[in-house]
Formats: sequence, structure tokens, C-alpha cells
Amino acid sequence: MSANTISINSQMSHFDSHDSVWLFGYGSIIFKADFPFLERRPAHINGWARRFWQGSHDHRGTVEAPGRVVTLVPQEGAVCAGIAYLITPEVFAHLDHREKNGYLRLVTEIHFGEAEKAEGLIYIASEENTAFAGPASELDIARQIARAAGPSGRNSEYLLLLAQALRELGSDDAHVFEIEKHLLQLEREAAAR
Ligand code: SIN
Repeated sequence: MSANTISINSQMSHFDSHDSVWLFGYGSIIFKADFPFLERRPAHINGWARRFWQGSHDHRGTVEAPGRVVTLVPQEGAVCAGIAYLITPEVFAHLDHREKNGYLRLVTEIHFGEAEKAEGLIYIASEENTAFAGPASELDIARQIARAAGPSGRNSEYLLLLAQALRELGSDDAHVFEIEKHLLQLEREAAAR
């Protein structure tokens, strides 16, 4: 699958008759809501784990030195915390453009606490997309993030803002926090040189 997903996503008609749709954000959508929304709520989805396994050459890296951003991988028993936004369908044009580097819209169940849930959407970059970077050790991911920057800013800023937002949500995301720990150590070492 080509990395640019705009045309595939714009054909999705699942919520066409709806006035508003829940969008669940688990990466930059948590800390950078550059779109209008009607409501914003902490939420979680089940069966998915957040991983820095998607390459980024359009936002947080370049073609020569791609960065890494998060996507979701299926994992039994996993709970992924994030933020859900209630948006109107017009907002999807902006989101499809923003998430065009390999992310496809997927319908999923979004949970608000223990008792409430709603059908909504996530943007997910699967291993079939050409920008998929795949698994690597947390240290190697931190090394790649430390070097990368793109039109949206430094890759390290993406990681640090996400880690901070997850802490504020009370989410104990071992993968993200381990990469953050390595990145901060790499930055300390670079500053000491
Ligand atoms: C998301 O935030 O939900 C998708 C991944 C990203 O844009 O970082």
C-alpha cells in the first residue's frame, strides 16, 4: 500500500449519516488538537498497544532521516489510553491530510471509564504501509528519534509531549516511558560532550 492514504480514507462512508463522530487519539492527536471539536474526553480502547513503529518522513523526519511516530498493534489484553474528540464529519478532510503518511481510518469501540462506550474511529498505520518502520529496541528507537526532525518539529518533541500527556492521563505506558528515558540519557550525554 502506498504511504499516502488520503484517497482511501476519503472513500470511507461508515459515518456518512452522522452529525458527529468520536475520534480516538493515541499519539499526536492527544497533544495537538489542531481541529475543531465539540467535546474532549479521556478514553481508552482495548486490544491495542501503542508502538513507535511508524516511520515519519513528512512530519517528524525527512526522507533521508525518517523519524518514528506511534501506531497501534493488536495485542490481547492490552489497554491503550488516549483522548477522544467528538467531531463533525467535515473535520475528516483535515485529519486525512494530517495523517496521510500511511494511516487508515478504522472503526472501533471507544470506552469512557468502565461503564460507557461508543463506536468511533482511530487512524492506524498497519505493517502493510510503505512507511512502516517495525519493531526495534527501545534504545535504538530513542537513537533514531534523537537524530530526526521534520516540518512539524523535532522528533524528540513528539516523544516528550506524548510522554507528558500520558502521565497526565495516568497511563503507565512502559514502551513510551522507556524510550523517553533513553532519549533523555542520550541528550544528557550529547550535552556533556
Ligand atoms: C493519533 O494520534 O491518534 C495517530 C498517530 C499520530 O498522529 O501521532
